[in-house]
Amino acid sequence: MLAIFVAAVLYAAAGVLSFDISCNSNVAVYWGQNSGASGSLPYQKPLGAYCDDDNVDIILLSFLYILKGTGGYPVLNFANICDYTKNASVPVFPGTELMHCSDMGVDIKKCQSRGKLVLLSIGGATAQLNSDAATFSQQVWDLFMEGSSPYRPFDGAVIDGVDLDFEQSSQMNIIQFANNMNQLYKTGTRKYYLTAAPQCPYPDANLGGLLAQAHVDMAFIQFYNSGWCDNSKFGLPLWPESMNYYMWDAAWRNNSFANPNIKLYVGSTAGQNAGNPSSYVSPSFFAAELQQLQRNYTASFGGAMMWDMSWAYGSTPNYAANAKQALMAGSKCGSPQGNCCSSKQPNPSLSRRRRSS
Ligand SMILES: *[C@@H]1O[C@H](CO)[C@@H](O)[C@H](O)[C@H]1NC(C)=O
Ligand SMILES: *[C@@H]1O[C@H](CO)[C@@H](O)[C@H](O)[C@H]1NC(C)=O
Ligand SMILES: *[C@@H]1O[C@H](CO)[C@@H](O)[C@H](O)[C@H]1NC(C)=O
Repeated sequence: MLAIFVAAVLYAAAGVLSFDISCNSNVAVYWGQNSGASGSLPYQKPLGAYCDDDNVDIILLSFLYILKGTGGYPVLNFANICDYTKNASVPVFPGTELMHCSDMGVDIKKCQSRGKLVLLSIGGATAQLNSDAATFSQQVWDLFMEGSSPYRPFDGAVIDGVDLDFEQSSQMNIIQFANNMNQLYKTGTRKYYLTAAPQCPYPDANLGGLLAQAHVDMAFIQFYNSGWCDNSKFGLPLWPESMNYYMWDAAWRNNSFANPNIKLYVGSTAGQNAGNPSSYVSPSFFAAELQQLQRNYTASFGGAMMWDMSWAYGSTPNYAANAKQALMAGSKCGSPQGNCCSSKQPNPSLSRRRRSS
């Protein structure tokens, strides 16, 4: 008993908690596009600078934005980090436009050793989504995961999965791609994730079919840039209808998603000009919104997503830290006593749904 107690204390003191998808208090942040530079904020730092921040659980490397570039290989872009057009020392694999980002490989391993999930996001606003699903899924596995290739942009680092941020129609069959990835994941030595970043109108024009037909672990829903459907509508007289999380939750409860346990994240812009300024909400407003959604939508809600790291860190208070603190107050897990939520009764209307195992 004493030994167990001591071990538990040591574990807590070490502070390394590995990612838990079942928590309702996770924070996911996109890193890579340095969008704060457009607001005169300090440039994003290399990935490794964010690994020690316990407020972030998931880092989404953005983006792999050309599926099939020169030589038939994909193309990465991380703005000021690892770009051969800005830094002549960055190597490019022969016959391709694919950069060799060894420093990022080291940082990916560092973040993973701190318990973070590191996903590679595919797509973005200016993506070229032309490939075929069979070729591209095998390439992703070989270049970034447990497959092998002479071209390994992150060397031996193995990402924890891929995120699909398709914002235009794709020439690739995205459902087939997702199914292939999930098959490849099963051949691996550890757990991998597949996620997607739909816009908030339900169902999403480009990712609706994917969510309905393929197993997706988490949806990072963009409650911004869609006019009527955004975070700023939270708390208005017509809320919850006006904000639209309720519709995602309704779809979750009526089994509209291929993965009945998909976790839904509420995405926000982390700064005034990180997206459409009318979608932006302050850190305190977002915190209050998250707490209410977390309390009400106990089954579907997974946490918060934000765009992007440069804005979150340029914000006072830090946008990610503020959201994490709000979420931890009502978290199902990770509280020091491990019993944060035992006094809360599950809402019976939310527990009725049957789960496939
Ligand atoms: C340029 O690239 C090299 C090789 O990846 C890297 O070591 C160096 O830090 C980069 N310089 C800047 C200013 O980013
Ligand atoms: C499930 O809910 C969604 C969101 O409200 C709705 O669009 C869809 O039609 C519903 N499907 C069924 C089968 O009821
Ligand atoms: C709370 O969630 C239920 C469904 O789970 C929904 O019908 C209701 O509108 C929600 N209320 C608010 C204020 O979000």
